[in-house]
Amino acid sequence: MGNPEMCKEDGLVLPEAGPWAKTKHIKIQYYFQLFSTSMKKKWKTRVYIDLFASAGKARIKSTNEIIPGSPLLALEIKDQFDNYIFVEKDQEYIGALKKRIDSLFPNQNCSYINGDCNLQVKSIISAIPSFDRINNGLSLCFIDPYNSNQLNFNTIREISKIYVDFLILIPSYMDINRNEHAYIKEDNPTLDLFLGTDKWREDWRKNRTNYNKFGLFIADYFCIQMKNLGYIYNNLSDMELIKMEVDQNLPLYHIAFFSRNKLGYKFWMETKKNTTKQFDLCFDEE
Ligand SMILES: C[S@@+](CC[C@H](N)C(=O)[O-])C[C@H]1O[C@@H](n2cnc3c(N)ncnc32)[C@H](O)[C@@H]1O
Repeated sequence: MGNPEMCKEDGLVLPEAGPWAKTKHIKIQYYFQLFSTSMKKKWKTRVYIDLFASAGKARIKSTNEIIPGSPLLALEIKDQFDNYIFVEKDQEYIGALKKRIDSLFPNQNCSYINGDCNLQVKSIISAIPSFDRINNGLSLCFIDPYNSNQLNFNTIREISKIYVDFLILIPSYMDINRNEHAYIKEDNPTLDLFLGTDKWREDWRKNRTNYNKFGLFIADYFCIQMKNLGYIYNNLSDMELIKMEVDQNLPLYHIAFFSRNKLGYKFWMETKKNTTKQFDLCFDEE
């Protein structure tokens, strides 16, 4: 897999990304492919929703390399989704994303929503085709915020009312653990909104010795909140920890997958197992 055009300069905006974005992309694209191909026969319509879509391409700070972002990776798979919904707060980024998709994937059924995903829930839900027993459909929602203050659990709660699986990046170490001193303050609502409850504070006081890091506790708490919505979650090992490969193996964030269906969960376990080795998403130009 790998269209060389997706890794070329095209004169449009290129947000910066860390080198670890490549590891994330290998895993998510593997999952998108597995999900879409396996669900093709079972479901008439498969919908991809990207709540933090960005610009479609990014530049890795340290190497200057251009890499395709999550929307292009989701479009590039063999058995494409039937509908794509992209949400992005930054107007320039979503404009660049649309131009890139128009040029690289001109025949796809894509909707673009410019705005804060937490304030656009109604528009997001109305962009999803309506399904019934005969015309059935399944959605995959990818959620990739930089920080916990960019996502409200209520957004997930609302979207989960349709038939949807989630693939979520939890910024457990790069944000939550690093900012424990700020988030722990009684008057800081960031994690109350991220977790959809303020009860975590009491649980942290009671259970902190069971977790060696605050970020790990919050990631586990987030997954338990998903379990409360009916999604399968067994324990911390359901998630995958992404580390910074160069700098002393520093942990950065967790990737977690949530389905109410055992098959979706099984695919995630397969993805975890089969994406531990790195490979390049773009072919070298000869
Ligand atoms: C980590 S980047 C996403 C990268 C992208 N998923 C990829 O893999 O190529 C986060 C993006 O979310 C956007 N963003 C931040 N807060 C947002 C919000 N509340 N709603 C929608 N977009 C948001 C940022 O402008 C940024 O482009």
